[in-house]
Amino acid sequence: MFFHGTMKVNEKGHLEVGGMDTVDLAGQFGTPLYVYDVALIRDRARGFKQTFDKLGIEAQVAYASKAFSTVAMVQLVDEEGLSLDVVSGGELYTALAADFPPERIHFHGNNKSREELAMALKNGVGCIVVDNFYELELLEEICESLAAKTKILLRVTPGIEAHTHDYILTGQEDSKFGFDLQNGQAETALQKALNSSWIETLGLHCHIGSQIFDTTGFILAAKKIFEKMAEWKEKHAYEPKVLNLGGGFGIRYTEDDDPIQASQYVEEIIGEVKKQAEHYSMNMPEIWIEPGRSLVGDAGTTLYQTGSRKEVPNVRNYLAVDGGMSDNIRPALYQAKYEAVLANRALDKPEETVSIAGKCCESGDMLIWDLPLPKAGEKDILAVFCTGAYGYSMANNYNRIPRPPVVFVENGESKLVVKRETYEDLLRLDLPINEKIKN
Ligand code: LLP
Repeated sequence: MFFHGTMKVNEKGHLEVGGMDTVDLAGQFGTPLYVYDVALIRDRARGFKQTFDKLGIEAQVAYASKAFSTVAMVQLVDEEGLSLDVVSGGELYTALAADFPPERIHFHGNNKSREELAMALKNGVGCIVVDNFYELELLEEICESLAAKTKILLRVTPGIEAHTHDYILTGQEDSKFGFDLQNGQAETALQKALNSSWIETLGLHCHIGSQIFDTTGFILAAKKIFEKMAEWKEKHAYEPKVLNLGGGFGIRYTEDDDPIQASQYVEEIIGEVKKQAEHYSMNMPEIWIEPGRSLVGDAGTTLYQTGSRKEVPNVRNYLAVDGGMSDNIRPALYQAKYEAVLANRALDKPEETVSIAGKCCESGDMLIWDLPLPKAGEKDILAVFCTGAYGYSMANNYNRIPRPPVVFVENGESKLVVKRETYEDLLRLDLPINEKIKN
């Protein structure tokens, strides 16, 4: 078992996060409950940012808010001086509502609508990451109609895909994202962008995957991009000011995962970019990165109350909790693995192996298979670790289960930052077809 951030076990044998007893939190806010260790988020943010600062490299660390986007989280990102990556009008709206400085917002997405692009331009978003020819034309048209100039990065696919532990080099990149670097599309896009009087092309962007444990893929991507940039410098007298190498830095969900430190990712990426810039006698670009999971993943813990059991003799024991794929769809969707403890009996030795079932009407709604635990009864509190990324942000109302609240904890204080959804909330958008409805 591996504790994260400020986690410890207190004198009552209860799991503590951010100086708060999780059993008390479960009592106060109910379960399921997402708890975020704010000090750990700050620590992770500083791990990335301070490495660039220490090495004197011009950089932007943009939090990929798709991992967990709420007003409080965006405000925390602002407090830490990071930039913000948004991928939809909704994430942009959240950022603006949190009063995040728009010039530090980067807008992503492979099918941004006219309304979303106009919203970004009207609000002074700092950079649009242009994904395809359709968007390039649409953007220019909107800029013209609003008489607003904009800064962009061109998203390119360098032909490298990271599959967590290994990398495949694909010739003709088969991806819905970005301009292909090899087949000439990226160069055509660059020419179009350079010809536009509305668009300032800051540079290039690529993202090779997610939950990556080393720097091999980032280094390969940087090499491929520099090869082209050197070619384009000759042909188009263009040198990018910015190279954005995306996100994807891995975290430790279970003992099988072995990611490197943020500082090591950053140092090795900087080393390679410097080497390439020198090799091709090009200017050192600003380096931008977009960590999502690695900023919030292991800072999040979900607390559940245990409930029914089903024992299948000689096969398996199921222990059900009061949430499931509605608050964490990752096990069902990606076979994601998690670790967990009984928060109210954190020092007790494991006595049995149980599989943790959710409460949704679907056999695939299993959170953890074969977890060693003390014998859990009704009303124990199960704490599932590392649910901070893509947990709340992918939560849903399957079976009309209300989404859990989110609590931030830091230095012995807790703050509710997202309220629990109510049954009334579930009906908020429903409209009746006759008069028979109770208020
Ligand atoms: N930048 C771009 C362009 C991305 O597409 C992503 C993630 C990120 C940054 C942040 O990646 P991260 O640092 O969080 O790995 N729902 C999946 C993950 C989808 C990631 C999509 N793109 C999951 O739960 O594992």
